[in-house]
Amino acid sequence: MSQKVIKLLDLCCKAGGCSMGYHKAALDLGYKIEITGIDIEPQANYPFEFVQADAVEFLKSNWQDYTHLHASPPCQEYSVSTAHLRQKVKIYRDNLDELRELMQKTGLPGVIENVPNAPLRPDIVLRGDMFGLKVLRKRHFELVNWWAMNPVMPKKNGSVAEGDYVSVYGKCGIKKSGKGKAVQPKFKKRTIKETWKYAMGIDWITRDEELAEAIPPEYTRFIGREFFRTS
Ligand SMILES: C[S@@+](CC[C@H](N)C(=O)[O-])C[C@H]1O[C@@H](n2cnc3c(N)ncnc32)[C@H](O)[C@@H]1O
Repeated sequence: MSQKVIKLLDLCCKAGGCSMGYHKAALDLGYKIEITGIDIEPQANYPFEFVQADAVEFLKSNWQDYTHLHASPPCQEYSVSTAHLRQKVKIYRDNLDELRELMQKTGLPGVIENVPNAPLRPDIVLRGDMFGLKVLRKRHFELVNWWAMNPVMPKKNGSVAEGDYVSVYGKCGIKKSGKGKAVQPKFKKRTIKETWKYAMGIDWITRDEELAEAIPPEYTRFIGREFFRTS
């Protein structure tokens, strides 16, 4: 039997948290995978083939070259962690609706990821503790042109305030709790960056803002196994 070949397009890929998870999912299944990441900004740490381009424009002209699609549109507009920036002057582009419409039209199976406040259908909802990670980082995933079961979310055990998890956002540093106290994680590593990387299950990313915006690869590894096996 010939080996299944997945050609994945990762739109708005940043440094590749989602791409890495899909890569691992394909390895788990024994499939061959080729991944192309698209981002409007240069991404020196992206670990697969990379094209700097606008996601919508690239998808319009190139979707026929792929078997599976993923998009992580910029989430700052909906993210709780950047609410304080929005109140100042920063304005973010929002291409979520346009990407969804285009992805639906291609007929290819796809996944759209974003933060819980974003206007996405939460077909799959994942949190870091479901994978033994030390971040909570709840994320919603909308499935396009395919379907999978949403796993049961377990009751949360522990908290950031008690040092069981770490919050990864903004600049690398130990965040303060609601009471203004800096919380030291129980699993602290040599440096704060090492602590963040360990908590997220990421080893190749080096820049704070890449880590701050990344999806722990275990999330898309989990989704990817169903995504690639069934479609
Ligand atoms: C939340 S990050 C993606 C994180 C990534 N999924 C991961 O797991 O590491 C969103 C990315 O979208 C990119 N972006 C914003 N507008 C874009 C556009 N019009 N076309 C392509 N990329 C865009 C940003 O530069 C940013 O790198």
